[in-house]
Amino acid sequence: MKNLKIKLVAVLVFVGMFARADEGMWFLMFIERLNQRDMQKMGLQLTAEEIYSINNHSLKDAIVQFNGGCTAEIISKEGLILTNHHCGYDAIAELSTPKQDYLTDGFWAKTKADELKPKSLFIRFFVRMDDVSKRILGKVNDSMTEEEREKAINAEIALIQKENNDGGKYTVSVRSFFQGNEFYYFVYQDFKDVRLVGTPPKSIGKFGGDTDNWEWPRHTGDFSMFRVYGDANGNPADYSTANIPLKPKRHLSVNMNGVKEGDFAMILGYPGRTNRWLPAGGIEQNVKFAYPAWVEASKLNMDVMKKYMDKNDDTRLDYESKYAGIANYWKNRQGMIDALTKAKTAELKSKNEAKFNAWANKPANVAKYGKVVETLNNYYAKTSEKARHDNYLMQILRGSSFAAISRTLGAQLDGYAKANEEAKAGLKADLLTSVDEFYTEISMDVEKDLLSSQFNLYARKAGYVLCPTIEQIGSKSNNDFRKFINATFEMSLFSSADKLKAFIEYPKDGMITNDPLFQLSSELLAHYNSKSEELTKLQADYSKSFRLLVAGLREAKMSTIQYPDANSTLRLTYGKVSALPANPKNDAKVNYYTTLDGTIKKYKAKDEEFDLPQRLMDLHKAKDYGQYVDKAGHLPVNFLTDNDITGGNSGSPVLNGKGELIGLAFDGNIEAMAGDVIFDKNLQKTINVDIRYVLFIIDKFAGAKHIVDEMTIVK
Ligand code: ARG
Repeated sequence: MKNLKIKLVAVLVFVGMFARADEGMWFLMFIERLNQRDMQKMGLQLTAEEIYSINNHSLKDAIVQFNGGCTAEIISKEGLILTNHHCGYDAIAELSTPKQDYLTDGFWAKTKADELKPKSLFIRFFVRMDDVSKRILGKVNDSMTEEEREKAINAEIALIQKENNDGGKYTVSVRSFFQGNEFYYFVYQDFKDVRLVGTPPKSIGKFGGDTDNWEWPRHTGDFSMFRVYGDANGNPADYSTANIPLKPKRHLSVNMNGVKEGDFAMILGYPGRTNRWLPAGGIEQNVKFAYPAWVEASKLNMDVMKKYMDKNDDTRLDYESKYAGIANYWKNRQGMIDALTKAKTAELKSKNEAKFNAWANKPANVAKYGKVVETLNNYYAKTSEKARHDNYLMQILRGSSFAAISRTLGAQLDGYAKANEEAKAGLKADLLTSVDEFYTEISMDVEKDLLSSQFNLYARKAGYVLCPTIEQIGSKSNNDFRKFINATFEMSLFSSADKLKAFIEYPKDGMITNDPLFQLSSELLAHYNSKSEELTKLQADYSKSFRLLVAGLREAKMSTIQYPDANSTLRLTYGKVSALPANPKNDAKVNYYTTLDGTIKKYKAKDEEFDLPQRLMDLHKAKDYGQYVDKAGHLPVNFLTDNDITGGNSGSPVLNGKGELIGLAFDGNIEAMAGDVIFDKNLQKTINVDIRYVLFIIDKFAGAKHIVDEMTIVK
């Protein structure tokens, strides 16, 4: 009897270890085999086939990738799209002017004819996926160099893409998983006529700003709405007034009944990047070398931009979106440094690697795996200084619009100068548009300051091998680059749209390649991409060893991770509505949701981050929450789930057991910033906008009930 009990306990412990429902970004095609039973136990009422089916319409048809970097969902039969405010931010800023500032004031289209088309915005439907590991790995063998291997794989990938794109109708992407140990292809269909339908003012959509970003408790109405259009037959088409709203295969129903702790919750979306298999040495390199440089140089970009944004509204709108993007990862990377240090993640991993190394050096394994850990550690030891350098340089490229000009507008202009007369005539109109678009969104004062300030930081801190021009000028000028940058702009065609337009009228080959700003940019990029022979060899050995590490850990069953790292492919994560360990900062009684009361408590008049629209305050005062109020009389704003997401999941739907929309994922919490490397069961949460808050803002705050009426509401 006693014995049996012990066995039972052992079984329970064992099951408990693997039923880590919250961890994992799963492939839709394996849900039936890997997750369905577990999910149904937790509250899923759908079958795997209802979530993902190749032959029938399924839940996946309502989920789209939004503009390459976010997720969104279709929520009406007329192609209405819901995503985060911070995902629509760039488009909203682009459509705004100081006179008609939708970013500040919000925007709600009264009719479809009022919807606004931003320059470029696309959404991507997922059609199907399949495993091509055997096919691709059949083309390689152990005696190949990494270069030969890559070539063979790419050749096979090109074939797979051709076979599956249906004569150009689809985009096919073949991606590697588990560090090159498996391969899958993904078939997508892209639509590029996407128009803005509605957005709350920034004071709601980005309430709390960078102070609250990555933090819980949270009170942000982080949503915006768009609509996808196609031609009369429902095919993708360039923007045209003749296009009609797309009739989607599937749209999500919206459930207004609210959430409570423990409720099943799943999220479908496009997580961008995780590094759960990263070796200890890589974590250490990031924490000590890469991220500190990233953080310091990002902050410099922010400080320079902010100085000018505060002075001028045009400049603010030009740089707002770029600023927000840089600020977002500035805080994220500092959070990662803190969380990884606190959790001692590198030490933990290094213990597991020591165990693996012992296994790898057993006679049966030594030939294949014996050198893996040693090679990885050697790579990190030799590349730390370069990692620091590259991160400083990378932030120059991220901040300045001119640092990479030789690859973007410059390359276009040079191509134009070299083209024959007939080709020139064909290129001219587009080129003039590109020039106009480029120069309407920048300020020369900001750009010059960004470059001279960043060069100063780089020259002082980047170490390793410096970019030659920066080193020379810096040593002559005591690292004051202002004169040099001014002179470079003075002499460059790129200093104004007018000069470039004159060049487009009277082009001459050689003028672009001899331009001082073009040359500076070429040098920066060449320096960033340059590789010594030694480095090339180190990197090849590294990528082989990393692949073997992952293969070996799986073979030796020394890793509990059963899903591949995120890489911007569609995944599902499931778990439940769940509180963070006690946090006295919260306004709600229970620590898994916040309410409008808490929003109002944070209100600071005229503050850049915590100001609120008067109308919202009035609605709160009158407790005029309409049908969106919860049972306790509060208006819910945000809630937490224990789902496993990362950047790219922004805008993803949070779904209940029936696949109905209950919220919108928009953030993670700073305590769990180590999450991209290691999932913390207790700390890692997803921060979501309660769908009732979304509906309340549209209906009661903005008076745009016609948009809510388009949806399929479940009460
Ligand atoms: N942290 C969020 C994400 O990466 C973005 C939030 C945008 N808000 C902000 N205050 N910058 O998805």
